[in-house]
Amino acid sequence: MSLALTAERAPAPRPEPKPGILDIVAYKPGKAKAEGIAHPIKLSSNENILGCSPKARDAFLAAADTLNIYPDSRATALRAAISAKYALEPERLVFGDGTDECLHLLNQLFLEPGDNIVMGRYGFAAYAIGARASQGDVRLAEEPDYRISPESILEQVDGRTRLVFITQPANPTGTFLTGEAVRALHAALPPATLLVLDEAYAEFADDPRFESGLELARRAENVVVTRTFSKLHGLAALRVGWAYCPPHVADAFDRIRPPFNTSIPAQAAAVAALADDAFQARSFEHVARWRPWLAQQLGGLGLEVVPSQANFVLAGFPREPGRTAAEAEAHLARHGYLTRGVANYGLPDHLRITIGLEEHNRAVVALLAGFLERTPA
Ligand SMILES: Cc1ncc(COP(=O)(O)O)c(C=O)c1O
Repeated sequence: MSLALTAERAPAPRPEPKPGILDIVAYKPGKAKAEGIAHPIKLSSNENILGCSPKARDAFLAAADTLNIYPDSRATALRAAISAKYALEPERLVFGDGTDECLHLLNQLFLEPGDNIVMGRYGFAAYAIGARASQGDVRLAEEPDYRISPESILEQVDGRTRLVFITQPANPTGTFLTGEAVRALHAALPPATLLVLDEAYAEFADDPRFESGLELARRAENVVVTRTFSKLHGLAALRVGWAYCPPHVADAFDRIRPPFNTSIPAQAAAVAALADDAFQARSFEHVARWRPWLAQQLGGLGLEVVPSQANFVLAGFPREPGRTAAEAEAHLARHGYLTRGVANYGLPDHLRITIGLEEHNRAVVALLAGFLERTPA
């Protein structure tokens, strides 16, 4: 080792992570346990309350016969199934160990120290974690009314902005940008900035003004759309996410992607899930039925409810001691209902509640009515 090299860093007593890593606050998953309750109802992670397709479960079990084999690194069958379903060029698809890995890899691909990403103030925490891990800066754009504001996003964009992350619909707010607004935002971005449209909850949107970004991504050189099997398909445990990328981005992605990042059981279950239109329709219809009900009931209790297009609602609580979001979360948990406090998203007065089965939704409303000393409608 040359003297010049060794002189650059003061001798450290132990290997230290690179600068910035220890400033990162680790992702906090939704709670899965309630003290003293054996089987709490988990409404804290936006999972599919109906489970998953029985066909996906069968495919997963059948894959148990090949546990000694490495998975198909190209996920050929899954690639073909997604390509056929959404009419997408197969070579432009990439796969990840959940969308989470796709997001991490995108940050890794594009960020150098001094570069930045832009996201909404209440945006999904994983974007920022991945950017900071690549020593990128994170710029937060204001979200008036809990909505992404294209103007605020553009105010934050500069010559070092490599990625803009927009969640469609957003987590934890459930709001969305219209197709028209997404196109206008894209048109205003520098061509060297990649617009990432995270559509983890897109299948739950029923507002006619919502549009998937897949069409925009098809013709743009700087748009990526990510999707997941964790939500509508109910396969969160298996960790399958995918992204539809411009060809040069897909090429770069596959150069650094861990080669076997989606397992054989996961690929098999995802293929079967994609073919099970009946389960997908049931999942969608369940959310379409109970999301407005829950929003209306919570609103009737005097809570502020943010209009949601995802499989959860965000409710705002008063700041009055005895009625706060944190106390409501604890009250629900004591009765076996786990919801998500979102103080770490900059929303200390809100709870995010996944749409449950009918009895769960009714129980949550009744418990909150008792907590707030109000009568449900
Ligand atoms: C907005 C958003 N993107 C991505 C993900 C992660 O999805 P996956 O389970 O595919 O990693 C989630 C999970 O909650 C999410 O809310």
